[in-house]
Amino acid sequence: MLTPDKNQLLTQTGAGTPMGELLRRYWMPIAGASEFDEQTRVKPVRLMGEDLVLYRDLGGTYGLIDRHCCHRRADLSYGYVEECGLRCNYHGWLYDEHGNCLAQPYEDIANPSAKMKDRIKIKAYRVREHAGLLWAYLGPEPAPLVPNWEPFTWKNGFTQIVISEIPCNWFQCQENSIDPVHFEWMHANWSVRLKGQTGPYSPRHRKVDFEEFDYGFVYRRVREDSDENDELWRIGRVCLWPNALFTGNHFEWRVPVDDGNTLSVAWFFARVPQDREPYVQNSIPTWHSPIKDEKTGRWITSHIMNQDFIAWMGQGIVADRENENLAASDKGVALIRRRFFGDLDEVAAGRDPKAVVRDEKFKDCVPLPIMNRAILTKGITREQLAKDPNAQILLRPFAWQVGQPDEVRKAYAEAMGVEIKG
Ligand code: FES
Ligand SMILES: [Fe+2]
Repeated sequence: MLTPDKNQLLTQTGAGTPMGELLRRYWMPIAGASEFDEQTRVKPVRLMGEDLVLYRDLGGTYGLIDRHCCHRRADLSYGYVEECGLRCNYHGWLYDEHGNCLAQPYEDIANPSAKMKDRIKIKAYRVREHAGLLWAYLGPEPAPLVPNWEPFTWKNGFTQIVISEIPCNWFQCQENSIDPVHFEWMHANWSVRLKGQTGPYSPRHRKVDFEEFDYGFVYRRVREDSDENDELWRIGRVCLWPNALFTGNHFEWRVPVDDGNTLSVAWFFARVPQDREPYVQNSIPTWHSPIKDEKTGRWITSHIMNQDFIAWMGQGIVADRENENLAASDKGVALIRRRFFGDLDEVAAGRDPKAVVRDEKFKDCVPLPIMNRAILTKGITREQLAKDPNAQILLRPFAWQVGQPDEVRKAYAEAMGVEIKG
């Protein structure tokens, strides 16, 4: 249970709020690089309550600047890119990725000596492409490294990025990253019931545990069908700091759009069978997944992450933590809240919060706890893949989010050397 004041501390992300300042110490994935092509050069983005535009200019440089032009506030998401920078479509003022105003076409002719453009600076943030994602940094300098999480260094895999907009606050989404027991009920058992069956239900959780490490918390579980030798206990899964889940082969970031909306950005890696190696993926596809069934007006229930979204949205726009009753299964939830409260004090004192990566020795790779590491890094034969209960899901239609485009399904099936029906 939290008081409304403490709940606000965790959930408000605007500039100048304590959590807003804390989250601005990290790079946030905000789009897939493959969303940008010859036609799509400019995209409106709302991030932690700030309205921005993300663009790729004709020279190939990405920029992230204020949504509104410094002249008379036109909407720069309707601007057009030049060799360098983004031009406002109203009177043609041109901005670069550092926020400099490069041109004011009429002023430059009519009143060149005033050099007005030299006094104009638009809000601009750093943006970086890495692992097929576009990352933004809204915090103070010096910026930390964009974390090169270990799976970003893997080869011989098919990667895809899936994005959804979820109309609720980021923090309840992130609490789901440290909630092992929900797997049993929300995914395993509910899926049985959604198929119209009444059983059998999944093996029950016998114990769960949580442990802090440099980049988040690991959560472990023993179920009735497993024991302490199982990787689910020995290695576990990761609540990745500050706003992601990492399961070993995929990441899910919960990026605050504003205090009532969250961008779910997921990155999935599937190692191809050994007979398909070497496999080189030229471009990582990005696709957007719906959350609502337009026919019924209800949320989509058929896919794993869609089920999670229903839990998060069901808690309200901002979860009412004054009226909750935390139980033994929520030990991890209590732990991450405590760590965030501690880190809010660190940031207020001018220090880095947890898991800001600055050490150059991690430039090439930030290692993480990884279940099924051998399969993911050394590969797997087709026969092993077909037999391995953890890997079989890779041979079936995409199970995490609804609406995978046909061309992504086909490229995936081709990479894996399997037939997957639409
Ligand atoms: S409002 Fe943008 S150039 Fe005039
Ligand atoms: Fe889940």
